[in-house]
Amino acid sequence: MITLGIDIGSRNTKLIIFDHEKQSILFQEWVATNIDPTKSIEHLYAKALHSLRLSEKDIAAKVATGYGRKIWPLADKVISEISAHAAGIAWLNPEVRTIIDIGGQDSKVIVLDEQGKVFDFAMNDKCAAGTGRFLEMTAMRLGIEVSQLSGLAEDADSEIKLNNTCVVFAETEIISLMASKVSAENIVRAVHCSIAKRIFSQMSALTHGAPYSFTGGVAQNQDLAHCISIELGSSLWIPPEPEITAALGAAILAKP
Ligand SMILES: Nc1ncnc2c1ncn2[C@@H]1O[C@H](COP(=O)(O)OP(=O)(O)OP(=O)(O)O)[C@@H](O)[C@H]1O
Ligand SMILES: [Mg+2]
Repeated sequence: MITLGIDIGSRNTKLIIFDHEKQSILFQEWVATNIDPTKSIEHLYAKALHSLRLSEKDIAAKVATGYGRKIWPLADKVISEISAHAAGIAWLNPEVRTIIDIGGQDSKVIVLDEQGKVFDFAMNDKCAAGTGRFLEMTAMRLGIEVSQLSGLAEDADSEIKLNNTCVVFAETEIISLMASKVSAENIVRAVHCSIAKRIFSQMSALTHGAPYSFTGGVAQNQDLAHCISIELGSSLWIPPEPEITAALGAAILAKP
Protein backbone atom coordinates (compact mmCIF):
# COMPACT_ATOMS: atom_id res chain seq x y z
CA MET A 1 0.00 0.00 0.00
CA ILE A 2 1.34 3.40 -1.03
CA THR A 3 0.19 6.56 0.77
CA LEU A 4 0.91 10.27 0.63
CA GLY A 5 1.57 12.73 3.44
CA ILE A 6 1.75 16.46 2.90
CA ASP A 7 2.75 19.10 5.45
CA ILE A 8 1.56 22.51 4.29
CA GLY A 9 3.61 24.73 6.60
CA SER A 10 3.67 28.50 6.88
CA ARG A 11 7.09 28.57 5.15
CA ASN A 12 7.52 25.28 3.32
CA THR A 13 5.32 22.55 1.89
CA LYS A 14 6.73 19.05 2.29
CA LEU A 15 5.50 15.88 0.55
CA ILE A 16 6.26 12.22 1.26
CA ILE A 17 5.19 9.07 -0.57
CA PHE A 18 5.43 6.04 1.74
CA ASP A 19 5.33 2.32 0.96
CA HIS A 20 3.71 0.50 3.93
CA GLU A 21 4.73 -3.03 2.84
CA LYS A 22 8.37 -2.10 2.40
CA GLN A 23 8.20 0.40 5.29
CA SER A 24 10.19 2.85 3.19
CA ILE A 25 10.05 6.39 1.86
CA LEU A 26 9.67 6.30 -1.93
CA PHE A 27 9.70 10.05 -2.53
CA GLN A 28 10.37 13.17 -0.49
CA GLU A 29 10.56 16.79 -1.56
CA TRP A 30 9.75 20.25 -0.30
CA VAL A 31 9.14 23.68 -1.84
CA ALA A 32 8.54 27.11 -0.36
CA THR A 33 4.84 27.59 0.38
CA ASN A 34 3.65 29.84 -2.43
CA ILE A 35 1.46 32.91 -1.97
CA ASP A 36 -1.09 30.59 -3.58
CA PRO A 37 -0.33 27.41 -1.52
CA THR A 38 -2.38 25.17 -3.81
CA LYS A 39 0.22 25.85 -6.54
CA SER A 40 3.02 24.51 -4.28
CA ILE A 41 0.91 21.42 -3.52
CA GLU A 42 -0.06 20.69 -7.12
CA HIS A 43 3.57 21.14 -8.22
CA LEU A 44 4.86 18.66 -5.62
CA TYR A 45 2.06 16.15 -6.23
CA ALA A 46 2.61 16.13 -10.01
CA LYS A 47 6.37 15.78 -9.51
CA ALA A 48 5.94 12.85 -7.08
CA LEU A 49 3.61 10.94 -9.42
CA HIS A 50 5.82 11.63 -12.43
CA SER A 51 9.09 10.59 -10.79
CA LEU A 52 7.61 7.35 -9.38
CA ARG A 53 5.65 6.66 -12.61
CA LEU A 54 2.47 6.36 -10.57
CA SER A 55 -1.05 7.54 -11.28
CA GLU A 56 -3.52 9.02 -8.79
CA LYS A 57 -5.26 5.66 -8.32
CA ASP A 58 -2.01 4.07 -7.06
CA ILE A 59 -2.11 6.29 -3.96
CA ALA A 60 -4.31 4.51 -1.40
CA ALA A 61 -4.79 7.56 0.83
CA LYS A 62 -3.65 11.17 1.11
CA VAL A 63 -3.35 12.91 4.48
CA ALA A 64 -2.62 16.62 4.96
CA THR A 65 -1.19 18.34 8.01
CA GLY A 66 0.32 21.71 8.87
CA TYR A 67 -0.93 25.25 8.95
CA GLY A 68 -2.60 24.98 5.50
CA ARG A 69 -3.90 21.42 5.88
CA LYS A 70 -7.50 22.29 5.04
CA ILE A 71 -6.79 23.89 1.67
CA TRP A 72 -6.05 20.80 -0.43
CA PRO A 73 -9.36 19.41 -1.72
CA LEU A 74 -7.78 16.09 -2.77
CA ALA A 75 -6.78 15.16 0.81
CA ASP A 76 -8.81 12.26 2.22
CA LYS A 77 -8.15 13.37 5.79
CA VAL A 78 -6.47 16.15 7.76
CA ILE A 79 -4.56 15.60 11.01
CA SER A 80 -2.86 17.89 13.52
CA GLU A 81 0.85 18.60 13.28
CA ILE A 82 1.21 17.19 16.80
CA SER A 83 0.01 13.72 15.69
CA ALA A 84 2.01 13.97 12.46
CA HIS A 85 5.33 14.87 14.13
CA ALA A 86 4.76 12.19 16.77
CA ALA A 87 4.15 9.46 14.16
CA GLY A 88 7.10 10.59 12.02
CA ILE A 89 9.57 10.64 14.90
CA ALA A 90 8.25 7.40 16.42
CA TRP A 91 8.94 5.69 13.07
CA LEU A 92 12.39 7.24 12.65
CA ASN A 93 13.52 6.66 16.24
CA PRO A 94 11.14 4.75 18.56
CA GLU A 95 13.30 5.57 21.60
CA VAL A 96 12.41 9.29 21.57
CA ARG A 97 10.16 10.48 24.43
CA THR A 98 10.16 14.28 23.90
CA ILE A 99 10.01 16.13 20.56
CA ILE A 100 10.85 19.80 20.08
CA ASP A 101 9.57 21.07 16.71
CA ILE A 102 10.48 24.59 15.60
CA GLY A 103 9.01 25.79 12.32
CA GLY A 104 8.68 29.17 10.66
CA GLN A 105 5.89 30.54 12.80
CA ASP A 106 5.33 28.24 15.75
CA SER A 107 7.06 25.89 18.16
CA LYS A 108 5.75 22.73 19.78
CA VAL A 109 6.96 20.37 22.45
CA ILE A 110 5.41 16.90 22.34
CA VAL A 111 5.78 14.21 25.01
CA LEU A 112 5.36 10.60 23.84
CA ASP A 113 4.48 7.53 25.88
CA GLU A 114 6.30 4.22 25.58
CA GLN A 115 4.17 3.22 22.58
CA GLY A 116 5.18 6.42 20.76
CA LYS A 117 1.69 7.93 21.21
CA VAL A 118 1.13 11.56 22.17
CA PHE A 119 0.93 11.86 25.96
CA ASP A 120 1.02 15.66 26.30
CA PHE A 121 2.10 18.74 24.35
CA ALA A 122 2.65 22.49 24.58
CA MET A 123 2.32 24.78 21.59
CA ASN A 124 3.41 28.37 21.05
CA ASP A 125 1.79 30.02 18.03
CA LYS A 126 1.19 33.42 19.60
CA CYS A 127 4.71 34.77 19.93
CA ALA A 128 7.54 34.75 17.36
CA ALA A 129 10.25 34.56 20.05
CA GLY A 130 10.77 30.78 20.00
CA THR A 131 10.29 30.30 16.25
CA GLY A 132 12.09 30.48 12.91
CA ARG A 133 10.81 34.02 12.47
CA PHE A 134 13.31 35.22 15.08
CA LEU A 135 16.12 33.61 13.04
CA GLU A 136 14.77 35.02 9.77
CA MET A 137 14.69 38.54 11.24
CA THR A 138 18.24 38.13 12.62
CA ALA A 139 19.58 36.90 9.27
CA MET A 140 17.83 39.72 7.44
CA ARG A 141 19.30 42.35 9.82
CA LEU A 142 22.81 40.88 9.42
CA GLY A 143 22.41 40.59 5.64
CA ILE A 144 22.99 36.81 5.55
CA GLU A 145 20.98 33.63 4.89
CA VAL A 146 19.37 31.66 7.77
CA SER A 147 21.53 28.70 6.73
CA GLN A 148 24.65 30.76 7.65
CA LEU A 149 23.58 31.52 11.23
CA SER A 150 24.81 28.29 12.79
CA GLY A 151 28.34 28.45 11.36
CA LEU A 152 28.64 32.07 12.39
CA ALA A 153 27.53 31.48 15.99
CA GLU A 154 30.02 28.64 16.39
CA ASP A 155 32.78 31.30 16.26
CA ALA A 156 31.23 33.43 19.06
CA ASP A 157 33.84 34.48 21.65
CA SER A 158 31.64 36.19 24.21
CA GLU A 159 28.35 35.31 25.90
CA ILE A 160 26.20 38.41 25.52
CA LYS A 161 22.53 38.34 26.50
CA LEU A 162 19.57 39.90 24.75
CA ASN A 163 17.44 41.89 27.18
CA ASN A 164 14.31 41.64 25.05
CA THR A 165 12.47 38.39 24.47
CA CYS A 166 9.91 40.02 22.15
CA VAL A 167 11.14 39.76 18.54
CA VAL A 168 9.99 43.29 17.71
CA PHE A 169 12.03 44.79 20.57
CA ALA A 170 14.89 42.32 20.01
CA GLU A 171 15.20 43.66 16.44
CA THR A 172 15.82 47.17 17.79
CA GLU A 173 18.31 45.69 20.28
CA ILE A 174 20.16 43.86 17.47
CA ILE A 175 20.40 47.08 15.45
CA SER A 176 21.86 48.84 18.46
CA LEU A 177 24.35 45.99 19.14
CA MET A 178 25.47 46.18 15.49
CA ALA A 179 25.95 49.95 15.86
CA SER A 180 28.06 49.26 18.98
CA LYS A 181 30.29 46.99 16.86
CA VAL A 182 29.31 43.78 18.68
CA SER A 183 30.32 41.00 16.29
CA ALA A 184 27.71 39.19 14.20
CA GLU A 185 29.01 35.91 15.72
CA ASN A 186 28.18 37.07 19.25
CA ILE A 187 24.81 38.53 18.24
CA VAL A 188 23.71 35.27 16.59
CA ARG A 189 24.85 33.21 19.61
CA ALA A 190 22.80 35.54 21.85
CA VAL A 191 19.73 34.99 19.62
CA HIS A 192 20.22 31.21 19.80
CA CYS A 193 20.52 31.32 23.61
CA SER A 194 17.39 33.44 23.79
CA ILE A 195 15.39 30.96 21.64
CA ALA A 196 16.75 28.02 23.67
CA LYS A 197 15.64 29.64 26.96
CA ARG A 198 12.23 30.37 25.48
CA ILE A 199 11.76 26.75 24.41
CA PHE A 200 12.93 25.51 27.81
CA SER A 201 10.37 27.70 29.59
CA GLN A 202 7.67 26.45 27.18
CA MET A 203 8.57 22.93 28.32
CA SER A 204 8.16 23.74 32.00
CA ALA A 205 4.41 22.99 31.86
CA LEU A 206 5.15 19.41 30.77
CA THR A 207 6.58 16.32 32.41
CA HIS A 208 9.20 15.64 29.77
CA GLY A 209 12.15 13.30 29.62
CA ALA A 210 15.00 11.93 27.51
CA PRO A 211 15.66 10.86 24.81
CA TYR A 212 14.94 14.27 23.27
CA SER A 213 14.55 14.98 19.57
CA PHE A 214 14.73 18.30 17.71
CA THR A 215 12.82 18.56 14.43
CA GLY A 216 11.33 21.07 11.94
CA GLY A 217 13.32 23.23 9.53
CA VAL A 218 15.00 25.14 12.34
CA ALA A 219 16.59 21.91 13.62
CA GLN A 220 19.09 22.30 10.76
CA ASN A 221 20.70 24.97 12.93
CA GLN A 222 23.28 22.99 14.90
CA ASP A 223 24.41 25.86 17.11
CA LEU A 224 20.82 26.40 18.25
CA ALA A 225 20.53 22.64 18.90
CA HIS A 226 23.67 22.91 21.03
CA CYS A 227 22.16 25.85 23.01
CA ILE A 228 18.92 23.89 23.60
CA SER A 229 20.83 20.80 24.74
CA ILE A 230 22.73 22.93 27.28
CA GLU A 231 19.40 24.24 28.67
CA LEU A 232 18.04 20.68 28.86
CA GLY A 233 21.24 19.19 30.26
CA SER A 234 20.76 16.38 27.73
CA SER A 235 21.72 15.59 24.15
CA LEU A 236 19.23 15.97 21.27
CA TRP A 237 18.65 13.49 18.48
CA ILE A 238 18.12 15.29 15.16
CA PRO A 239 16.68 13.34 12.20
CA PRO A 240 18.85 13.40 9.07
CA GLU A 241 16.19 15.57 7.38
CA PRO A 242 14.27 17.27 10.17
CA GLU A 243 12.08 19.32 7.82
CA ILE A 244 10.08 16.32 6.57
CA THR A 245 9.04 14.69 9.87
CA ALA A 246 5.41 15.82 9.90
CA ALA A 247 4.84 14.93 6.22
CA LEU A 248 6.32 11.50 6.94
CA GLY A 249 4.03 11.04 9.95
CA ALA A 250 1.01 12.04 7.85
CA ALA A 251 1.95 9.45 5.20
CA ILE A 252 2.43 6.77 7.88
CA LEU A 253 -0.97 7.54 9.46
CA ALA A 254 -2.68 7.57 6.04
CA LYS A 255 -4.70 4.39 5.67
CA PRO A 256 -7.88 4.10 3.65
N1 LIG B 1 19.69 25.79 7.65
C1 LIG B 1 18.81 26.38 8.42
N2 LIG B 1 19.17 26.89 9.61
C2 LIG B 1 18.26 27.50 10.40
N3 LIG B 1 16.96 27.66 10.09
C3 LIG B 1 16.56 27.16 8.92
C4 LIG B 1 17.44 26.51 8.03
N4 LIG B 1 16.74 26.14 6.95
C5 LIG B 1 15.47 26.55 7.18
N5 LIG B 1 15.38 27.16 8.36
C6 LIG B 1 14.21 27.76 8.95
O1 LIG B 1 13.24 26.76 9.08
C7 LIG B 1 11.95 27.38 9.03
C8 LIG B 1 11.05 26.55 8.17
O2 LIG B 1 10.90 25.30 8.80
P1 LIG B 1 9.64 24.38 8.52
O3 LIG B 1 9.60 23.98 7.09
O4 LIG B 1 9.65 23.29 9.55
O5 LIG B 1 8.49 25.43 8.81
P2 LIG B 1 6.97 25.34 8.48
O6 LIG B 1 6.51 23.92 8.76
O7 LIG B 1 6.70 25.86 7.11
O8 LIG B 1 6.41 26.35 9.55
P3 LIG B 1 5.25 26.17 10.65
O9 LIG B 1 5.33 24.74 11.17
O10 LIG B 1 5.59 27.15 11.72
O11 LIG B 1 3.97 26.47 9.91
C9 LIG B 1 12.13 28.80 8.51
O12 LIG B 1 11.92 29.72 9.56
C10 LIG B 1 13.58 28.81 8.07
O13 LIG B 1 14.13 30.04 8.26
MG1 LIG C 1 5.74 22.94 10.46
